[in-house]
Amino acid sequence: MGEVLTRAEICRDQDVFAVRQLGRRIAELAGLESQDQIRVATALSEIGREALARGAGSAVVFDLREDRLVITVDYLDGADVRQSEGVKLAGRLVDEVALSAEDRRVTLVKRVPEHGVSGKRGRLSIDGIREELARLSPSTTALDVLREQNRELAGTLEEVLRLNAELAETNQGVLALYNQLSAELEETNRGVVALYAELDEKSSQLRQAAEARQRFWASVSHELRLPLTSIIGLVRLLLGSGAEPLSEEQEHQITLIGTSAETLLALVGELLDLAKAESGRLDPHPSMVDVVALAEGLRMTLQPAGPADGVTLSVDVSDEIGEMFVDETMLTTILRNLLSNALKFTEYGEVRLTAVVDAAMAEVVFTVTDTGVGIPPEHLERVFEEFFQVPGALQLRAKGTGLGLPYARRLTEALGGTLELASRPGEGATATLRVPHRMVTPEVGRVLVADDDAGFRSVARRMLFGFAARVDEAADGIEALNLMRERPPEVVLVDLLMPRLDGTALLHRMAEDDVLHGIPAIVVSVVSEQPGAAHPVLSKHGLRRDQLLEAIREAVRDRAGGGEGDGSGTHD
Ligand SMILES: Nc1ncnc2c1ncn2[C@@H]1O[C@H](COP(=O)(O)OP(=O)(O)OP(=O)(O)O)[C@@H](O)[C@H]1O
Ligand SMILES: [Mg+2]
Repeated sequence: MGEVLTRAEICRDQDVFAVRQLGRRIAELAGLESQDQIRVATALSEIGREALARGAGSAVVFDLREDRLVITVDYLDGADVRQSEGVKLAGRLVDEVALSAEDRRVTLVKRVPEHGVSGKRGRLSIDGIREELARLSPSTTALDVLREQNRELAGTLEEVLRLNAELAETNQGVLALYNQLSAELEETNRGVVALYAELDEKSSQLRQAAEARQRFWASVSHELRLPLTSIIGLVRLLLGSGAEPLSEEQEHQITLIGTSAETLLALVGELLDLAKAESGRLDPHPSMVDVVALAEGLRMTLQPAGPADGVTLSVDVSDEIGEMFVDETMLTTILRNLLSNALKFTEYGEVRLTAVVDAAMAEVVFTVTDTGVGIPPEHLERVFEEFFQVPGALQLRAKGTGLGLPYARRLTEALGGTLELASRPGEGATATLRVPHRMVTPEVGRVLVADDDAGFRSVARRMLFGFAARVDEAADGIEALNLMRERPPEVVLVDLLMPRLDGTALLHRMAEDDVLHGIPAIVVSVVSEQPGAAHPVLSKHGLRRDQLLEAIREAVRDRAGGGEGDGSGTHD
């Protein structure tokens, strides 16, 4: 029934391989799809390997019948083949595996497409297949496969080489781009350096100009004061009881000279104050001050002419303030400036002075609120510059030189406070003055605040006002190290998250330093976890002044008591 296509024999390892290739080729020629070709080839090599294991000389016969490819393998040695692994595996790969124990034969059957109605590739006639097979001499089969694989390898290699070349080209491009960018960067850098030099020069020029201006003011004020005082003195003499009688007209004119001279003297006084303030020569002389009495005094002297004036002045001081330890003249001057502005730029409504205590900051907060013309947002900071006045009809009519606010701010700074303005044009303005509640003799010397957050540094500075003799600020760890080496502080407050050198690294550097390891450090950070609890830790959020001061006192105490301490302390 069947027609033998070809035979093979399995004697050596290579034969298993050759039979596998042959099986695959025949499956192909018989019209099987490539998956099926591989199945047949694999089944054959499994069986073939087993056959070889049972002894050299097994015969393999390829047969094609109608719709089936039949491959029989005759084992030389006769053990039962039914239990063999190869047979089991082959059973899953071909359509049928038949075993006969007696003649030691395994038959593999794979259905193939019939003549004419085969798969895409079609199937050759029996003779055609024989012809094709005749061309493959068994010895060349393996070699052909090797060649084929070599060809594939060569192809892959070529592809790899091509990719390599492409990569090299890309690399060159990147390199060129990099060179170009570096050149550009270098140029930019040079520009920045030049700009810095220019800025440096400009700022030193500015500093010099500012110094010159201060000297000018100071001397001019003095030069003007002297002749003015003598003019005023002479006027008093002329108008005095012992003087010769004057005509009404003369008396009137001399009185005018006197008031003008007094106005001028007041202005010169203001200028002198400001010059003094700018050169940092404002020393507060604090005493116990009754804030209610101070506010009442201001209300009495500044009270507008009467109810017809359209503006009322009211004062509201919180009971909890009581007495403040502060420079009374400075505080009065600041508030008088704020109140006189409010009254000057308000035509209708109310001017109100209030004072409350901010316990967390240990500050008294004064506010002066009015219902006047207000200040445009773009001018809110400029009004603190000398001689700046907001352009406008009411402002033009008003008297003044534009020195009140800058002077008030300088005085505020001398008191360790802050002065801010807020306004909605047309709806009035609010000035907020914060002044430390108590100004006492400092408890500790120098405190260094190392934090990149300028806002927190300013809060800390205000909390330490009066408590620390001096507060230094550093915006990062490196700056902190430099400042500490220059002038070792009594205590350092360390923020953990800082640029350049963070808090943890800063503490390490300090611990390793012969001089700095003795400086107590307090960690003040938003980061809540403690770095090994070697240092006291305070949370920035909701930090209170008394907490901070207590932590500093404790740190300083620990250090004094601990002698050769390592700067570490415990906090609760
Ligand atoms: N409460 C306010 N409402 C509206 N504008 C204000 C108010 N306070 C200040 N200004 C504006 O800020 C400017 C500067 O104020 P500042 O007190 O420094 O000077 P001045 O009052 O004009 O003069 P001086 O105080 O020297 O007599 C004022 O001219 C005004 O334009
Ligand atoms: Mg003013």
